Amino acid sequence: MSLLEILEYPDPRLRKKALAVSGVDDELRQTIDDMFETMYAASGIGLAATQVNIQKRLLVIDIADEDEQRQPLVFINPEIEVLDPEPHRHEEGCLSVPGYFEFVERPRKVRVNALDRNGEAFEMVAEGLLAVCIQHEVDHLDGKLFVDYLSVLKRQRIKTKMEKEQRQNLSA
Ligand code: NI
Repeated sequence: MSLLEILEYPDPRLRKKALAVSGVDDELRQTIDDMFETMYAASGIGLAATQVNIQKRLLVIDIADEDEQRQPLVFINPEIEVLDPEPHRHEEGCLSVPGYFEFVERPRKVRVNALDRNGEAFEMVAEGLLAVCIQHEVDHLDGKLFVDYLSVLKRQRIKTKMEKEQRQNLSA
């Protein structure tokens, strides 16, 4: 397994739209394992392929606390249907926007249809943190970030700070 590089906002590659996965094979499963390793190493609870510069509709999630047993979830070609549009406010962060946490409103309850790591179709109903996480990650596959839900001013402030940090890291 290997750690993948996580793209950071405002990298334009985070705006690419991911393509449907046509077949689940060992190569894809290797990518899935690498994504889990990368996500756990960064203490994240979700990672979309877009964030590691792979344009495939694939995401991994594990919302278990670090002291709990791992609960790895794989979603290939996920399709979301809103079951309860009631807005749920949750403070979100993102491995592509490290260090920033902001409240975002999303539908409270969703149904997801996807393929698992064996290519088998499954359906899952999610609410609470899992619903937030799934919607956040599927957004990545469409080139969307949680900062897009913030005011222009807030987003601009985050962008400016991130660019400044990235320049400092480059010159360090
Ligand atoms: Ni994210």
